[in-house]
Amino acid sequence: MDTATPTAPSAAPPAPRGVIRRLQSRQGREDPFPLYEEIRRAGPVVSLGPHALLVTGFADCLQILTDRIWQVPDHTWRAARGLDTDGPSRNVLLTLPRLNPPAHGQARRLQSGPFTTAALERLRPTVRRLVRTHLDRLDAELTEYGRADFIDMVARALPVAVMCEILGLPTEDRALIARYSLETAALTEPFATPAQTAVADAAAAEFHAYVMTLLNARALSPGTDLMSQWLTHERSRTGPVPPDELAAHIVFLVGAGAETTSSLFATAVQAFEKHPDQARWLATHPEALPQAVEELTRWDPSVQNAVRVPTQDTTLAGTAVPAGTLVHALVAAANRDPAQFRDPHTLDFQRPPQRNLAFGAGFHYCLGAPLARLNAAEFLPELLRRFPALRTAGPATRTPGLNLRTFLTLPITRSRPVLAAAIAQTGGAT
Ligand code: HEM
Repeated sequence: MDTATPTAPSAAPPAPRGVIRRLQSRQGREDPFPLYEEIRRAGPVVSLGPHALLVTGFADCLQILTDRIWQVPDHTWRAARGLDTDGPSRNVLLTLPRLNPPAHGQARRLQSGPFTTAALERLRPTVRRLVRTHLDRLDAELTEYGRADFIDMVARALPVAVMCEILGLPTEDRALIARYSLETAALTEPFATPAQTAVADAAAAEFHAYVMTLLNARALSPGTDLMSQWLTHERSRTGPVPPDELAAHIVFLVGAGAETTSSLFATAVQAFEKHPDQARWLATHPEALPQAVEELTRWDPSVQNAVRVPTQDTTLAGTAVPAGTLVHALVAAANRDPAQFRDPHTLDFQRPPQRNLAFGAGFHYCLGAPLARLNAAEFLPELLRRFPALRTAGPATRTPGLNLRTFLTLPITRSRPVLAAAIAQTGGAT
């Protein structure tokens, strides 16, 4: 890609004062949407320092994600700015969201196998079994203690278990892998503090070494599992993919798959409680679950931001954007753009189907979107059916990230039958 350092700062109006700090505050993490509206009011494109921009409009974010002149800030872009490319961040720069064509296409072809429709249909019975065992554990915990941490017991544990099945990671290590998944979340954070980066780097290095051990064992004694297949995958021209690169992909896939899905599940629990009319409607219209999942992801997406850089001077919403400028496409704000969505702040499971940017768009469209939808389709109806009296038992805590909006804890109980009463009124869950 063009590595040009922007020659002139963008002429965009400044972002509202202290907006990143306010987004990082406890209140901002809990509810960033009023702050996104503040940014939107300041202009469709606002500047964050001389060479970075924030964009909130749906059409503008879509343009950034799909127009070929926009690329992700990759190894070359970082090197041209003297940013670290050889330390712990080296492995992140090998993963899909940091690759541009042609390397991106090659890496994506390698990894697409487990996420095809046919592969996911084969996986469905496994997901169903894992949903059942995790909800059994939750049931036992709630029966014994009256309350449980939804994130630890189910929301993170279940998608980690699914990713372990897909990738062939040992079942007995799921708790360790769940910790890696959580701790590496800050790797993709554009505004992580040095302390958060240090935790993420340490966890990523440990996880990488762990995966390398597994890959080395598979190389000595190949099986029919995914890692063995990937080790022998021949890239056109360049031959087999080095194990180091495979390990980087696996580390990224676990976090990308688990943290996002965990956030979706926890968001659903909170949304069902805060919007009992919507939960009631969904409980009596199970066929509408796919559209409800789209609406949940539009309304509060796990990934809030995508970063891109134009490879040539361009304009965005009438604002000149010099080549090389780092642009944050705030997809969570785009999903609530009033120019695109009627009554955008309202959660409405009956909203007519309409494209949103929760899973991105273009080349980097989420590889795991069909898996996220499968997990949700298997998990949410079972949750509603088996735990109609579920409610939160205290405030949630969230990770510090602004990009990945996920949870640390969400205490739950089932003592006050909010959903049960709602569902009983309308005659049954499924
Ligand atoms: C609710 C769940 C999920 C959401 C909201 C979500 C969101 C996103 C978004 C917005 C992107 C694009 C980022 C960009 O353009 O810079 C993305 C990319 C990606 N996601 Fe997801 N994701 C979810 C679940 C998953 C799952 C289950 C996996 C499974 C492995 C996954 C793997 C990936 C990968 C590998 C990429 C990079 C694709 C590329 O660059 O070509 N995601 N995701």
